[in-house]
Amino acid sequence: TLEEYEISAVNGFLPKEMPIAKLSDSYYKKWEAVVAQLPSLLLTKKIREVVDRLPILEVKQSLLQNVGELRRAYSVLCFITNAYVWGVDQPCEILPDCIAVPLLRISDELGLPPLATYSSLVLWNYQPIITNPDLIDDVMDLSNLTTLNTFTGGIDESWFYLVSVMTEKVGSKCVMAGMNAMKTARQNDIDSVVKELQLLAEGIDNLGSILMRMEEMCDPHIFYYRMRPYLAGWKNMAEVGLPRGVKYGSKGEYKYFAGGSNAQSSLIQTLDIILGIEHFPTGKKNGENQKTISANSNKNSFINEMRNYMPKKHREFLQHLSLVSNIRTFVLDQKVEKLTLAYDACLAMLKSFRDKHIQIVTRYIILQSNKNKSKSRALRSGLSKDQESKQLKGTGGTALIPFLKQCRDETGSIAASDW
Ligand code: HEM
Ligand code: ALA
Repeated sequence: TLEEYEISAVNGFLPKEMPIAKLSDSYYKKWEAVVAQLPSLLLTKKIREVVDRLPILEVKQSLLQNVGELRRAYSVLCFITNAYVWGVDQPCEILPDCIAVPLLRISDELGLPPLATYSSLVLWNYQPIITNPDLIDDVMDLSNLTTLNTFTGGIDESWFYLVSVMTEKVGSKCVMAGMNAMKTARQNDIDSVVKELQLLAEGIDNLGSILMRMEEMCDPHIFYYRMRPYLAGWKNMAEVGLPRGVKYGSKGEYKYFAGGSNAQSSLIQTLDIILGIEHFPTGKKNGENQKTISANSNKNSFINEMRNYMPKKHREFLQHLSLVSNIRTFVLDQKVEKLTLAYDACLAMLKSFRDKHIQIVTRYIILQSNKNKSKSRALRSGLSKDQESKQLKGTGGTALIPFLKQCRDETGSIAASDW
């Protein structure tokens, strides 16, 4: 069942209970104090000296045994980690033991990488403003949520995370409809499959609407210049000074990890799997291969790699789902018009979601980076604006637009009515 995979019928991939706002054991109060002060420590560039003086705290059994507390500890240490590495002018390639040692232990327990991820920034980083359900219609509404932590202390950063929280929340309806569609398809109940696919299409459409609310309170300039630098990872980051990645503690090893990205959301990958959408390595036009069963080596390596940046149970869920996904085959086999229509509507909605996402990326990354590309810099690097744009990378490390456009096209090109 979904519960076994830590997925909730009402919250989807968000935790069933609200995230814990503060570690309850006062033994960890110094961690909480640092993360609560993060914006000021970054502003004054004092983050490293303060963190360097922290004691090496032990990861207690009581922490390991309470998943809510464990997630909170992960989120806290990940915020501190990215702040430490990126927080002062030059990135720092060695994490002190006081952060590295507990973080390695905790991230290992959760099956997540030891740096800021979608889990630490979004899934486990929100709380309600009004908690009493008698005083408010819907506690889990965008208008009643706030973040637990940010790097910048600003509303723009909070909003960026909260919009993602809300897509996950609303996306729970998509997960349920998709699961029901699979179940009713196994029972050959065409009418029910049609109904569930219609719900799914509607749900995906809602995701697109939420995505477009990004612009209400997250300013593209602030996003690009103030907060995005902290979201970066240390894989393919040689050009900014982390050619070996980051060394985890005085006796630790250098490790590489991709930065935080919504590509680490299990929700969208779930939708792809349910609908039978496949992604191929960027630049490979697999028009032909899409019609045959593709070998694993054909799978888009970035999208697949991002599964390693999801909580362990969610990763296992996606693996299992891939094995039992049956909708596309069912639709193609049945050749019933209303079924084909309902299925194609889901594809169209997901394609439209990806179109909207490309618009957002254009406004929040491409246009921002062009804005500041002074002639002198272009001259110095010997690259034209256009060439520089082509070198832009997402925090996850992809080539941005070519990658995202291909993801979109792979969604739009497999309509059942074309077969
Ligand atoms: C991937 C940017 C908001 C869902 C990406 C990538 C970038 C990006 C650059 C490519 C991967 C990488 O290298 O990091 C942005 C920006 C956003 C934003 C600038 C807002 C300011 C969102 C939101 C969602 C989302 C709210 C909703 C869940 C995805 C997904 C991918 C992705 C699913 C993987 C590619 C795909 O499946 O099509 N994003 N993103 N993004 N993003 Fe966003
Ligand atoms: N993945 C997003 C970016 O590249 C956050 O900016």
